[in-house]
Amino acid sequence: MAREWDAVAYEGLSSPQTRWGAEFLGRLELAGDESAIDAGCGTGKVTGLLLERLPRGTVLAVDGSRAMVEAAGERFAGEPRVRVEHQDLLELEVGEPVDLVFSTATFHWIVDHQRLFDRLADVLKPGGRLAAQCGGEGNISRATRATREVVRRERFRPFFEGWDDDKNYAGAGETKARLEAAGFEGVEAWLHEEPTRFGSVEELSRFLATVVLGGHLQRLPGGEGEAFAGAVADEIVSEDGDPLLDYVRLNMTAARAGGGG
Ligand SMILES: C[S@@+](CC[C@H](N)C(=O)[O-])C[C@H]1O[C@@H](n2cnc3c(N)ncnc32)[C@H](O)[C@@H]1O
Repeated sequence: MAREWDAVAYEGLSSPQTRWGAEFLGRLELAGDESAIDAGCGTGKVTGLLLERLPRGTVLAVDGSRAMVEAAGERFAGEPRVRVEHQDLLELEVGEPVDLVFSTATFHWIVDHQRLFDRLADVLKPGGRLAAQCGGEGNISRATRATREVVRRERFRPFFEGWDDDKNYAGAGETKARLEAAGFEGVEAWLHEEPTRFGSVEELSRFLATVVLGGHLQRLPGGEGEAFAGAVADEIVSEDGDPLLDYVRLNMTAARAGGGG
């Protein structure tokens, strides 16, 4: 199951993810009456934008973090067209297959993309569509380098012995092949860069602590988390003085085979 998230902090810090999600959603052609799943809905900000695009549709918002599910549940309380469920996407089960699986900023947290795509194909109607964006090949390489450096420091090393910070920043070619192997057709997959600059090292550090380094912080004793995120932020900035994360997004659209036409 996915790790826990600080939903309150994510709600306040996730404007980059919300902006990318809105842009990705803006490019999708939708009839407006689809049944959709938001796979990894977080606190539900992008889910809300998806719902606006589906005035006659429904959304099943799924997330593996209980805190995120609680936040999204509060956001959509009294909205009969949204159901929020705590589920692991690798074990995703739905009552009825849906027209659309939508997802933003989530798939790179799941290492086994083949298993993920097999599962998502299974919850789609024949001809149903997958439209997703996540971190892709080369994503936040500055932060990855800096984190490796800080993890090796004596102060932090004991907390990370034998632990792997697994992410899957996949490339476009391998993603296309995996989607086709899962039974998708008309697959398009492409990368684009989203360099994201923060107002200060402190702002970068707060963002890292909640989003990028959340898994690391859960291994550290209280108090050390802030120091760790601050050290990673300092290390990133030491490259060229720029509080910048070199985000790369992997986009994918595909249809489950069997839709005819
Ligand atoms: C960065 S947030 C993205 C939230 C939202 N889609 C957005 O764009 O702001 C990533 C979300 O993926 C969820 N997640 C990661 N792995 C998951 C899994 N195996 N099953 C379900 N949710 C998962 C996390 O709990 C987290 O809420």
